[in-house]
Amino acid sequence: MIQKDEKKITDGSTIIDGKKTAADIRSEIRTEIEQTVAKGVRAPGLAVILVGEDPASQVYVRNKERACAETGILSFPHRLPATTSQDELLALIAACNADPAVDGILLQLPLPAGLDADKCLLAIDPDKDVDGFHPVSVGRLVLGLPGFVSCTPAGVIELLRRYDLPTEGRKAVVVGRSNIVGKPLASLLMRPGRFGNATVTVCHSRTENLAAVCREADFLFAAIGRPKFITADMVKEGAVVIDVGINRTEEGLCGDVDYAAVCDKVQAITPVPGGVGPMTIAMLLANTVQSWRSRLGL
Ligand code: GUN
Repeated sequence: MIQKDEKKITDGSTIIDGKKTAADIRSEIRTEIEQTVAKGVRAPGLAVILVGEDPASQVYVRNKERACAETGILSFPHRLPATTSQDELLALIAACNADPAVDGILLQLPLPAGLDADKCLLAIDPDKDVDGFHPVSVGRLVLGLPGFVSCTPAGVIELLRRYDLPTEGRKAVVVGRSNIVGKPLASLLMRPGRFGNATVTVCHSRTENLAAVCREADFLFAAIGRPKFITADMVKEGAVVIDVGINRTEEGLCGDVDYAAVCDKVQAITPVPGGVGPMTIAMLLANTVQSWRSRLGL
């Protein structure tokens, strides 16, 4: 839990520090792994599959492997050329499914042209699906069954939990309906519990009177991928604003929220960078540890 005196506060608004929270989670994971491995248990293992040379994917994968090394998770890298066939990739996924040292399988997306991402994701054993992208994982989430939750929305809920910003009974508006963020986030906010039990509205590009819907939100989640799309007039005084956007603009990285205009009127807000972004990798590590615990009966 983040203590009150650790919160960065400007003009009464809490700035939610995702960088620090992610570092806390990595440190907790590292301690758990160290203590368990000291008893003679094998370390958790994550297979990391990267096909092709996409520069952004190479950076993401390097960061994920670095975070694994820092916490004591073994990463098993698989770098394949862009010319890899669907059958070759499916064979590698099958080998990772069968490997008892592998607790999680990360298939970095997007795949090069000619490879069918849906087919490949479907081939991953749902019990090793630490990205939470398999239809079985999505189904488990919607049905409220135990399973892996997509890392970015899981990270959003973890920030609310650690900053003690309960959504129970409150109006939540999610702007964006992607499979990776908007839809799973809406499902999480509808789950029972203090950090669920919200009254959830999901908005998208065809929503009428979007600004008026957003103004109703006690909790506003922006995941549309458009720089500074959420302006001050769309935010209720005292709302909690969570910005999931990461947009590269000429002025540098910015979120989906016009942060400078919004930050003074909110109860709490995530900055970009340093808000939700660092939580994604932390939750990938947490999902890998969750798989390791359940596979080993820890
Ligand atoms: N590409 C961009 N973000 C992600 C992610 O979180 N997981 C995977 N597998 N690919 C991605």
